[in-house]
Amino acid sequence: MVELRSLEPDDWPIWRELRQAALAEAPYAFGSTLAEWQGSGDREDRWRARLGIPGALNVVAVVDGRPAGMASGVPVEHAEDSVELISMWVSPLARGRGVADRLIREVERWAAARGATRLRLSVMPANVRAVALYERHGFADTGLLGDLLPDGTGRERVMAKDLTDG
Ligand SMILES: CC(C)(COP(=O)(O)OP(=O)(O)OC[C@H]1O[C@@H](n2cnc3c(N)ncnc32)[C@H](O)[C@@H]1OP(=O)(O)O)[C@@H](O)C(=O)NCCC(=O)NCCS
Repeated sequence: MVELRSLEPDDWPIWRELRQAALAEAPYAFGSTLAEWQGSGDREDRWRARLGIPGALNVVAVVDGRPAGMASGVPVEHAEDSVELISMWVSPLARGRGVADRLIREVERWAAARGATRLRLSVMPANVRAVALYERHGFADTGLLGDLLPDGTGRERVMAKDLTDG
């Protein structure tokens, strides 16, 4: 059974466990690194601040009673009609069961409820599973330049979905 739960700053230990697992398991997928969130970077105030981003949604998927997936929706600076999907990860044992589908739909629902008309995201071009997932959900390339990749030349793909399409 898959249940979704929205987290508040007090839930930071749940987010910490999932996010550190995500950064350890899928470093190819994220701009952040495990090193940034371990050791001196692994502090309660940082995790609380991450969950306390104003106007954001932080949701975890609880699969058969255990937190096993995560995603956030965050406001986009200087673009009131847009929100961004970030931090998407599903534990390997829970993949292929539609957990990411549920997380994306929840972020979309939240985005539409707050009046956003556009949901965007950045994805590493080589992350074919994630790109396929997003295309299946109606996201398309925007042509915007994403962040530089660690190789110093490539860029993240910026994809977006119009939430007014029904
Ligand atoms: C990308 C990622 C989030 C997908 O998570 P997921 O929960 O496996 O995704 P879903 O189950 O919703 O969909 C994935 C596949 O399962 C299939 N599926 C969906 N529901 C299913 C079900 N009930 N039973 C069996 N398969 C199902 C989908 O058709 C899809 O097929 P595909 O692999 O051919 O595309 C996950 O692989 C992941 O966390 N990867 C590492 C981190 C990452 O890349 N994050 C994205 C950063 S931009």
